[in-house]
Amino acid sequence: QENVLANPVGTTLDRYIMRKQSEFPFATGELSQLLRDIALAGKIINREVNRAGLIDIAGAFGNQNIQGEQQQKLDVVANIRFIRALKNGGQACAILSEEEDDIIYTGNDQGKYVVAMDPLDGSSNIDVNVSIGTIFSIYRRVTPVGTQATREDFLQGGRKQVAAGYVLYGSSTMLVYTTGHGVAGFTYENSLGEFFLSHPEIRIPQDGATFSCNEGYWYQYPESIRAYLTTCKQRGYSGRYIGSLVADFHRNLFKGGIYLYPPTEKTPEGKLRLLYECYPLALLIEQAGGQAQSGHEAILDIEPVYFHQRCPIYVGSTDMVKEVLSLANAAH
Ligand code: AHG
Ligand code: MN
Ligand code: MN
Ligand code: MN
Repeated sequence: QENVLANPVGTTLDRYIMRKQSEFPFATGELSQLLRDIALAGKIINREVNRAGLIDIAGAFGNQNIQGEQQQKLDVVANIRFIRALKNGGQACAILSEEEDDIIYTGNDQGKYVVAMDPLDGSSNIDVNVSIGTIFSIYRRVTPVGTQATREDFLQGGRKQVAAGYVLYGSSTMLVYTTGHGVAGFTYENSLGEFFLSHPEIRIPQDGATFSCNEGYWYQYPESIRAYLTTCKQRGYSGRYIGSLVADFHRNLFKGGIYLYPPTEKTPEGKLRLLYECYPLALLIEQAGGQAQSGHEAILDIEPVYFHQRCPIYVGSTDMVKEVLSLANAAH
């Protein structure tokens, strides 16, 4: 029997960020501070998520966002909390959020970074105690420091992200992020109020035996996607779909698998949003050794045109993404 106490929790997120920063002699520490601010936002949203049923912030808010979705109260709360944390932090000059039509200015024009975010991912799972998350994507601004940020700062393209990640509010709360040098995962220790390094250097298995998609859309999927899913079933693969992108992605990241949100007749661009859902997860998956494709190109290579743009996505283990693409391409 292993003595479970022999392995005390070690590196805090703060210490890890500082250690990483010292590997880059020209780093000024501003990105490090921004990452810490995002972690703080994650802790605050975690608190709200945990007590949602007690303080009457479950349920619908009674408003639609620009995507035509019914906002949940927690969508709104997470959005406000996240923005407030970044305003107080001072490193981000502007924010783009799923829940707001246009750029949100933080008032910190001296900030060098902009952040695109999905404050609360998995809206439909809020009220039923199923895992949900927060997704973020960071760019260094292209407009001069000291001026107001513009659309160009957000529409740089996925390869220009300097960092991306998510917080998963699951059976435990985790922060997973990349700054383009691999992927690291941290687990939140409630009683200490700290994220601790729990999963250094995360790599996704090359292949997997799990597919994640909403099979309710089966008859709306392209024939080639149905053919791929049929092959998965003939091989006895597992179907796993939580309906919270972050949670489905996280499981596949660790166990191997593919997440699909294909185009349908009704939604030819799929559902997921490029800037704050697909780009950040695509950077993470590439950094973990997997792939993220739209069916036409790598997600990170898609030219962004507008803020709330959507794109189809096939993301996960390299071999599985390649296989679904080869079927899709053969169909054309
Ligand atoms: P959000 O809650 O941020 O609007 O995102 C919802 C997304 C994503 O979390 C999930 O994977 C997907 O919607 C589920 O969509 P379907 O219900 O169409 O399967
Ligand atoms: Mn939504
Ligand atoms: Mn989402
Ligand atoms: Mn959301």
